[in-house]
Amino acid sequence: MSTSVRGMRVHVADHPLVAHKLTLLRDERTESPTFRRLADELVTLLAYEATRDVRTEAITVQTPVAPAQGVRLSAPKPLVVPILRAGLGMLEGMQRLLPTAEVGFLGMIRDEHTLLASTYAERLPEDLSGRQCYVLDPMLATGGTLSAAIEFLAERGAEHVTAVCLLAAPEGVARVERDLAELAIPTTLVTAGLDQRLNDKGYIVPGLGDAGDRLYGVVS
Ligand code: URA
Repeated sequence: MSTSVRGMRVHVADHPLVAHKLTLLRDERTESPTFRRLADELVTLLAYEATRDVRTEAITVQTPVAPAQGVRLSAPKPLVVPILRAGLGMLEGMQRLLPTAEVGFLGMIRDEHTLLASTYAERLPEDLSGRQCYVLDPMLATGGTLSAAIEFLAERGAEHVTAVCLLAAPEGVARVERDLAELAIPTTLVTAGLDQRLNDKGYIVPGLGDAGDRLYGVVS
């Protein structure tokens, strides 16, 4: 299902395998090793949807029988940007479909009290002119982190941003749309589910809990 509200196209993947894997991810009994594998598989399914508009160019190859018209990814290559820490758990799943994409990193952390996002690490090309960027962040909750990440990429000239999120909350989607209204950057969200709401701690309900903790264990 795809909808477009004030600029951000929202695509909720509607597929029985996506729903099956998401249900297992949500289950609190699913332990980290299984959670990581499922998240990886789910991202690959989402990546298929997310790359529907990846830029290609026409080429001709020679089959054993005859020339055939085809396509290849065009330059500049897509840029995949996992948001540290939890976005790292989505990287391999994305690279499986886009093995030649470049990878940049953005470290963002959310203050548990103010829920505001700040950047603590960054490894990205200075010039993103003409680049299609794929931001990986498992949970679009308040939207603060994703807005800040998209703003960062837009300031460096990115042409288009697709956010790939396992789950999203309506409040987060609305916030990103509001924050990005000023920026002239087309944005797409591809997610496995749009959940009910946020709770007072900023967690998605019903969600799946803290994605980073479930992927990597609790760091105290
Ligand atoms: N981050 C998470 O990991 N889970 C949520 O529900 C919200 C933010």
